[in-house]
Amino acid sequence: MIDIVVGLQWGDEGKGKITDYLSEEYDWVVRYQGGSNAGHTVYVDGKKYVTHSLPTGVIRPNVRSVITHGCVVNPEEIIKEIEELEQLGIDFTDRLFISKDATVITRSHLIEDEKNKIKWGSTGKGIGPAYRDKYDRKAFKLGDVVTEHCYAKLLPFLTNTRELLYDAEIRDEKILMEGAQAVMLDIDFGTYPYVTSSPCTANYAPQGTGLPLSMFGDSSVIGVVKAYTTRIGTGPFPTEFQDDGLTEILREAGGEYGATTGRPRRMGWLDMDQLRYACEVNGITNLAITKLDVLSCLEYVYIKDSDDADDPHNGWVQFPSWELTGEEKTWDDLPFELKDYVSYISNETGCLVSMVGVGQNRDQLIWIE
Ligand code: GDP
Ligand code: IMO
Ligand code: MG
Repeated sequence: MIDIVVGLQWGDEGKGKITDYLSEEYDWVVRYQGGSNAGHTVYVDGKKYVTHSLPTGVIRPNVRSVITHGCVVNPEEIIKEIEELEQLGIDFTDRLFISKDATVITRSHLIEDEKNKIKWGSTGKGIGPAYRDKYDRKAFKLGDVVTEHCYAKLLPFLTNTRELLYDAEIRDEKILMEGAQAVMLDIDFGTYPYVTSSPCTANYAPQGTGLPLSMFGDSSVIGVVKAYTTRIGTGPFPTEFQDDGLTEILREAGGEYGATTGRPRRMGWLDMDQLRYACEVNGITNLAITKLDVLSCLEYVYIKDSDDADDPHNGWVQFPSWELTGEEKTWDDLPFELKDYVSYISNETGCLVSMVGVGQNRDQLIWIE
């Protein structure tokens, strides 16, 4: 069984938290595109874990984690990431597998990406230059540079991840794909050229893992969407707040600062036109709506929807906000205003909402039967 978690906006929807929650039930968690431009945050019992190149699965001792050939990897940075998580008590022995065919991010890629920080608001992690060299057929593969003399720490993790995952799926093990970035940052489907340099939709999972399409026949594609919208870096953002006060209030309430670069995130309302597109492109079967608690600090919240609006001329739908106690555990515990908001999203996308996030901790996620 293979299921896929993907972001439905411009990244930072809470993919890490949803992957962490679901991964209790999986044998494998797999990153199949992108690199350390990602920042996935999980809070467990008050402890904060942030993963960049590594799958969020590393936090669960029962899970094996995989980085495939679809990813770009900076050997120095991933060693640092592994060592930092080891300090937090995570043991990687026999449970981390990295493709020897992953593309290497070199120091010259990092230097080159400096100018993209200014030009596009790139994370400066060398992602674009590394993917360019991959497609120009002149990149190094991890297997070329990881030897006993250089980056030896990575040697025990290197393997053929395609074969590994193929055999696991044949044995009927459960595999969860953890998408990074999101459809609006996708190289083909995003707001080009203000995008990242990898494909970020569920559609890339077969190519990025090497597993045949026929193995994905019964896959659930779980789309993660924030109850509002954020974006880091340059580029179009149709529902961005025009009000600095509102931006500030919600940014502080939601802790909206980048997990990789610390930059303040741009803020806006939920965009139903954008979300329908995201669901269509990814073939979403289930939605996880995160950060509904954050909107509880406002009196009214809005969704932009040109198809179904109170006033079709301006295309906005107004909802009264809700109050939460922090003790809600089930769908029945949630206020009706919040349920109305969630139902609207479900109806307008035609997707089942399976999870709603009401806080940052692992247990502040409500599963809807
Ligand atoms: P990702 O890149 O999609 O994994 O998302 P990030 O980790 O970059 O950003 C999402 C942030 O929101 C993280 O700090 C999460 O801990 C936090 N978060 C996720 N879900 C919720 C939620 O339901 N409520 C609140 N308050 N925070 C959440
Ligand atoms: P996660 O997985 C949010 C953005 C950058 C920049 C653009 C290109 O945490 O959701 P790049 O360094 O990839 O060349 O930058 O893409 N970006 C992200 N924004 N979340 C991410 O990942 C991102 N990864 C890249 O800010 O605008
Ligand atoms: Mg992030």
